[in-house]
Amino acid sequence: MPDQHDLFGQSSPSAESSPNAAEPHPISLRDHAERLRSQIRQADVAYYVEAAPILTDREYDRIFEELSDLERQHPELITPDSPTQRVSGEAVKEFRNVQHAQPMLSLQNTYNREDVNDFDRRVREMLEGKPYEYWCDLKYDGVAMSLRYEDGALALAVTRGDGITGDDITQNIRTLPMIPLRVNPVTLGGVEVRNFEVRGEIFMKNDDFVRINEEREAAGEKLYANPRNLTAGTLKLQDPRELVKRPLQLAAYFLAAEGVAVASQAESMRILRELGFPTALHSRLCPTLEDVFAFLDEWENRRETLPFQTDGAVIKVNSTPQQAELGAVGRFPRWAFAYKYEAKKAQTRLKGIFLQIGRTGVATPVADLEPVLLAGSTISRATLHNADYIAELDIRTGDTVMVEKGGDVIPKVSGFVPELRPPESSLFAFPHECPCAFKQPLKRYDGEAAYYCEFAACPSQVRGRIEHWAARNAMDIEGLGEKIVDQLVELGFLRTIADVYRLHEQREQLLALDRWAAKRADNLFAAIESSKERPFTKVLFGMGVRFVGEETAKILAEHFGSMERLLSATKDDFVQVFGIGERTATAIAVWFQNPDNQALVRDLERIGLKMHHEGRALADAVTPVQGKTFVITGTLPTMKRDEAKDLIQRYGGKVAGAVSKKTDFVLAGEEAGSKLEKAQELGVKVINEEELRAMIA
Ligand code: IVH
Repeated sequence: MPDQHDLFGQSSPSAESSPNAAEPHPISLRDHAERLRSQIRQADVAYYVEAAPILTDREYDRIFEELSDLERQHPELITPDSPTQRVSGEAVKEFRNVQHAQPMLSLQNTYNREDVNDFDRRVREMLEGKPYEYWCDLKYDGVAMSLRYEDGALALAVTRGDGITGDDITQNIRTLPMIPLRVNPVTLGGVEVRNFEVRGEIFMKNDDFVRINEEREAAGEKLYANPRNLTAGTLKLQDPRELVKRPLQLAAYFLAAEGVAVASQAESMRILRELGFPTALHSRLCPTLEDVFAFLDEWENRRETLPFQTDGAVIKVNSTPQQAELGAVGRFPRWAFAYKYEAKKAQTRLKGIFLQIGRTGVATPVADLEPVLLAGSTISRATLHNADYIAELDIRTGDTVMVEKGGDVIPKVSGFVPELRPPESSLFAFPHECPCAFKQPLKRYDGEAAYYCEFAACPSQVRGRIEHWAARNAMDIEGLGEKIVDQLVELGFLRTIADVYRLHEQREQLLALDRWAAKRADNLFAAIESSKERPFTKVLFGMGVRFVGEETAKILAEHFGSMERLLSATKDDFVQVFGIGERTATAIAVWFQNPDNQALVRDLERIGLKMHHEGRALADAVTPVQGKTFVITGTLPTMKRDEAKDLIQRYGGKVAGAVSKKTDFVLAGEEAGSKLEKAQELGVKVINEEELRAMIA
């Protein structure tokens, strides 16, 4: 059972006064120590809460030193709330589980503005026509924390945990310089605010996160995915001394004080600041729903410029009595709602541009960026697509650029900030040579945006080709990832994808290398061997013919049925295939006519890779669909209309939009309408999905 901790009851050991405090002592020294402490506290508040330092670093350090010296000479003067006592106590093995005085609730959230309207409607209905206002905060993406103060001193800090109980991490929280160990005296309605609970978010700033991860990377340590994870990990460190190296921040957003009625969210934020807490930034009173939407709009983009991560905004009913009236349902208060932003954009400095040569020889300019957080992960590279793209956007080295990400695609540079362009920014001259050791010329063809390296033995291309071959969606060779491929290409073990299947012949040499244990090598050989079982479509896709993706590989395999037929096909044969355009057809023909590629295909054949499609080749199959015109109408039982269309076309049929005398078949499903009537009128044969399948079986 967790220790019960009632809201304003017991005091924790850390708040007890020093055992020596009662001893007689020259009052002047004690006073002096207290004066120094008060100066440090004021300086902390000015620095962390008001962002307006009143002491220079040097003055601050001097006062701190003086206090430390005094306490060292007179340990009986030390008080638990002295700023010198932030890092105290031994490392803990396990954190004590503590029950929250009031559950720490979750928020209902949405990415949808309509839901915000609904939330407002519910509030309005429940408050039965009484006027109300909103308070909007940014939603900090960190770790929620409850801080209990007794007699004005920090007594207990508890993580949110499951909302009912959390971990006592007081020792760790004490080390954070912006969290007051003793608060400023504040009175409200004649009562001093001394016993209270503060809630807020502990978070880490973006640049601190990036720096710490860089240090970890340099030390070969595991990287944190985002500042929230790093914050959570830091708070759970068992030795408080280690926290000092990990700067965490607090944004307070809630206050419950014993014996004091705090009228509103606005007032609690004001009191929190007076007490000496840094509160959530940019919060605002929003008297109407329009004001709420204006707040959401304003921060939708501006949040990219904030030095910390926010994932949305929290909309709260401002009045405390109204909050109580609205209450909560389960874990969710009815007076608060979170609106979340989609994470997509970030700003950072473009340090330089380099070329990356892909497996097909395309030279893609890549932005070398000052590391920045984007949608939760650190980005230091982004694509610039091609030379035209860079010229069009007028992006120069040294610029502050915008980086964007949609879904899980590769991030791209989408523009620059003109006001932040430094005088020394420089235009990017697209190199004329491949960056690999062979420095072959890069060529650009009329009408194409890309530059190419046409030297097939270019190590960057070789690397790309082998990586592609081994990739999960191709031959899926476990253990043949980017790093290994890099190493094996560099050592000259791999020049073509066929070499992968001869790698076991190099077993002895491999084992002589660093980090190549026998077990690892044998596992890799086994994975390579079993990749011989992959179907022909995967082989075709894995060979990396330009413009031949997974879908096109399937179409080719189904249509031609064997490698032999592909080798003897002409460009015209490829153009005939439904789903293959002119450009792709040309690229496929060029690839199969290249003697090096023909030799590679023969090599793969000898090795034992699959050279035949398992199903029947469509080109061989003459079905009743061939040459016929179909019209599709209604909802089919298992196929989407597009899928049916695709199927018909692949078997050489045509699909028209309207029924006429020329229509051979109407493929009809549920709720077929006027087209079905028309077919019946004209006497066109009507078939269902099952009959279509029977035609091609
Ligand atoms: S108010 C009942 N304000 O969001 C009110 N929460 O999904 C609950 N959070 O656990 C909290 N910034 O960790 C509030 N300005 C803010 C916030 C905030 C971040 C977090 C908090 C809470 C979670 C709820």
